[in-house]
Amino acid sequence: MTARILDGNALSAQVRGQLAERAAALKARGVTPCLAVILVGEDPASAVYVRNKVAGCEKVGMRSIKDVYPINAAQETVLARITELNADPAVHGILVQLPLPKHFDAEAVLEAIAPEKDVDGFHADNVGALMQGTPRFIPCTPYGVMKMLESEKVALKGAEAVIVGRSNIVGKPMSMLLLQAGCTVTVCHSQTRDLAFHTRRADVLVAAVGRPKMITGDMIKPGATVIDVGINRQQSGPDAGKLCGDVDFETAKEVAGLITPVPGGVGPMTITMLLTNTLEAAERARGKS
Ligand code: GUN
Repeated sequence: MTARILDGNALSAQVRGQLAERAAALKARGVTPCLAVILVGEDPASAVYVRNKVAGCEKVGMRSIKDVYPINAAQETVLARITELNADPAVHGILVQLPLPKHFDAEAVLEAIAPEKDVDGFHADNVGALMQGTPRFIPCTPYGVMKMLESEKVALKGAEAVIVGRSNIVGKPMSMLLLQAGCTVTVCHSQTRDLAFHTRRADVLVAAVGRPKMITGDMIKPGATVIDVGINRQQSGPDAGKLCGDVDFETAKEVAGLITPVPGGVGPMTITMLLTNTLEAAERARGKS
């Protein structure tokens, strides 16, 4: 059996088309949705992500502000800028690209963002709201995964969902969303004793660890839905320099029922959901004024 491919580019294009219409409607009422992105340092991967986020805004008719600080910038400088952006009514979403340099207290920076502008959904208030089942902003990558599952009508009620990775950005919020959707959820991590034992039970398997091709076909239940959140650059071999996921696509696609590719799977959906959250923030702000 060869799995069906879940095309994140196609779904993204569809969702972004709807966002462009909503952004135009808001503009006609005098509000241009605006996302402010802060990048500290020159990590090449982060720079690419930020560039794509800014370009994504433009393509759907939203405004963006990009502030880049040198790697040795003081945390106070960034906090002062966040305070300014919090107070600016023309700014609807604020995002600080992670990871921050080591001398930063990332938690303190994320907590400084006004919760109603926290389009990443990383502020403790928003994490709490998600946990209570009343989310204000759903973190973009897990939100994109849920959209993908919804678009394919993947049955979630009563399904066994296994997430590999327990990060604040993906694994933890993903577990909450799948739990709320009715899955029985297992979260695996670096200390999990027998990873394959768990992954082989998964009807829905989400890989989010950042280790190239670590989930192989023999670790997958036949017919399972496999969502690959990893974006890794291959270090060696014939495909050195090319991107690959946490899933070994070649062996996995022979076993899975539905699978996301890398690139062209979850990646484009992450930015699409960031744009969705920003538009939502602008619509809410417009509603209030
Ligand atoms: N770094 C990796 N993923 C993300 C994300 O979703 N948001 C932010 N702000 N930084 C990231």
